[in-house]
Amino acid sequence: MTETSRQVVLITGASSGIGRALAVGWARRGAITVLTGRHVEALDAVVGEVRGVGGEVLCEAGDMTCEADRVRIVARALAPTGRLDVLVNNAGRGYYGSARTIVPADLEGLFALNTVAPLRLTQLALEGLGHAAVASGHATVVMISSVTGVVAAPRLGAYAASKFALEALSAALRAEIAASGIRVLVVRPGPVDTPFRARATTTDGQPGVRPPGARVQSADEVAELVIRAVVRGDAVLETSAFVKAASFASRLMPSALRWVTRRMAGRSK
Ligand SMILES: NC(=O)c1ccc[n+]([C@@H]2O[C@H](COP(=O)([O-])OP(=O)(O)OC[C@H]3O[C@@H](n4cnc5c(N)ncnc54)[C@H](OP(=O)(O)O)[C@@H]3O)[C@@H](O)[C@H]2O)c1
Repeated sequence: MTETSRQVVLITGASSGIGRALAVGWARRGAITVLTGRHVEALDAVVGEVRGVGGEVLCEAGDMTCEADRVRIVARALAPTGRLDVLVNNAGRGYYGSARTIVPADLEGLFALNTVAPLRLTQLALEGLGHAAVASGHATVVMISSVTGVVAAPRLGAYAASKFALEALSAALRAEIAASGIRVLVVRPGPVDTPFRARATTTDGQPGVRPPGARVQSADEVAELVIRAVVRGDAVLETSAFVKAASFASRLMPSALRWVTRRMAGRSK
């Protein structure tokens, strides 16, 4: 038995990338995982992997921007035990393009998935998280943010805005629900080797931004760090030295960061 044994863990965006790795990682530790995403075939493949490591798994496909789907997914997660130990708000999408040309409707669509959906799913899950907190002392909401939740770079304005907003909501929520034993963990990955960049919206036909000097992490490495941070009860996880340096610079060396981002803008013209 490990610390996460028989916990119920709901993971959004579980059909790919970091979500897939989290599903397998938690299953290895004996948790019951509830997986969601839009693409049923991709989800089925992850369900197979989770069962392959001996995991008990439920699967409920749906679109995180659709309220009826969110309600159905939370109900499915609560069906076995009425409790939810960990909610991982991981589903998200990138957007690369100049702030000069962001299409307002695109921005709204991005916020609907990256910002509104995690908040709303958390609201719907609060009762189940509360039951888990009463039963075992704590429950956790994981918000998968990004280094761009604290640092905005050229061509990343829209995406960074959606993650900055998620960070603000998470900070408020953390304070509001702490007394009920529900923790909020904000995770800031840097570049991770997933289909994320290929799937992102681009408005200028150029590939996604790869910040200079950043090591690309594997989804498995990030998932392992997230699971350990949940077990420790951390409030924030910055997943690499690159993220820590960028985050530090944003707070204590903002003019140096402005110089770096101006150079990045020059290169991406
Ligand atoms: N990869 C990186 O470099 C990186 C860096 C920092 C932060 N992040 C964050 O990490 C999270 C996971 O990204 P990833 O790298 O693992 O990317 P990914 O491999 O593209 O996975 C994204 C997941 O989100 C799901 N998703 C997308 N739109 C959805 C919708 N409308 N409804 C429900 N699910 C939806 C996708 O499933 P379906 O297509 O099946 O719906 C997929 O499972 C995101 O929040 C991203 O912002 C990624």
